[in-house]
Amino acid sequence: MKRSSAATTAAASSGVALGATMVSLGRRLTTARGYRAHGVTELAVLDHDTLLAAVTASDAIERVRAALVAFAAGDWVMPPKVYLDSPPHGDFRAMPARGGGLAVLKWVTSFPSNPEIGLPTVRGVVCVSDAVTGEPVMLLDAGAVTALRTGAIAAVATQALAPPDARSVGIVGCGLNGGWAARCLAAAGYGPGVCHDPRPSAAQALAEELGWAAGTRGDAVRRDVVCCVTPGSAIVIDAGDLRPGLHLNMLGADGPGKAEASVGAVASCALFCDEWEQASHGGELTGAVQAGLVTRERVTELGAVLAGTATGRPGPEAVTLFDSTGLAIQDLAVATAALEAWRDGRVGAQTVTL
Ligand SMILES: NC(=O)c1ccc[n+]([C@@H]2O[C@H](COP(=O)([O-])OP(=O)(O)OC[C@H]3O[C@@H](n4cnc5c(N)ncnc54)[C@H](O)[C@@H]3O)[C@@H](O)[C@H]2O)c1
Repeated sequence: MKRSSAATTAAASSGVALGATMVSLGRRLTTARGYRAHGVTELAVLDHDTLLAAVTASDAIERVRAALVAFAAGDWVMPPKVYLDSPPHGDFRAMPARGGGLAVLKWVTSFPSNPEIGLPTVRGVVCVSDAVTGEPVMLLDAGAVTALRTGAIAAVATQALAPPDARSVGIVGCGLNGGWAARCLAAAGYGPGVCHDPRPSAAQALAEELGWAAGTRGDAVRRDVVCCVTPGSAIVIDAGDLRPGLHLNMLGADGPGKAEASVGAVASCALFCDEWEQASHGGELTGAVQAGLVTRERVTELGAVLAGTATGRPGPEAVTLFDSTGLAIQDLAVATAALEAWRDGRVGAQTVTL
């Protein structure tokens, strides 16, 4: 995408012509009476690779942790995500959030059959706007934002909930987001780990990248910290896999009808989630809630633990389970870091003038 030089030139000359009667406010042109007469918005566009160059895994972890605390305090806000079905292919999701002077909308898909035709499951854009003026300021590749913030929350939850001496990692499901969970855990000092995937090439590639090992599901679930990031169409954690001190990050079940752990296994754990409404209606907790085995009182939101207003791990012997369904405030956290990187000149971006 190229900057529109014709539009830029026209906007500049109209600004000069109107000079005395116009007040320039940043990139906006406003009449002396306060009416916007002519808007010029320069929108930065960060593609997948630029976003990943702009925001490191360590930065994403810190940003996502801070976002959860700000959300718990009510400083960052996030209405429920809206689903728009597109049968039989999948669904679109609209995920807005506001905080720190910015607002975002992630417009993103989950099209599970896309890999069969060589396309990613998750595609879309994140639009970042100035929350004071409403001006759109940046467009980001949603797949990269999603992968980075999803990986980051696995690390944040592990730091908050796993026993202090937990180090080894099992990754069950080594696709796009499983890979980023592993990278973020490695960036946070966890590992080595065991990578498991029915596609041996996926497990092997991730293991080689991180200096970890590929292995069976059984090998992976015997590690200190186990992250499940499968499509959620089959149970990969059962009650027999639970043992004292284990920490589970369940990332794959992020919509209705998905589950990676049996209801019995879920009900046996000390339970944590990113956000109760999402987790109880379209997350790993949903089956146990519907079965009447888990109620709101039994589940703690991670942000409350991070803010110090709720207790985390009940004790060294507990099995902790964190249910991640994916929050728009996580997207906002990563988008904020990307915008800062661009404004500081640490990454370049394509720009388009609207
Ligand atoms: N919690 C969140 O915030 C969040 C964010 C993004 C995606 N997701 C969800 O995570 C899941 C994975 O998404 P993705 O983009 O990484 O998909 P992906 O297709 O890139 O990866 C999924 C991987 O799981 C593997 N897999 C399938 N069945 C398995 C099994 N039984 N055991 C082990 N591995 C298995 C696949 O071979 C594949 O490598 C999806 O359900 C997606 O909706 C959640």
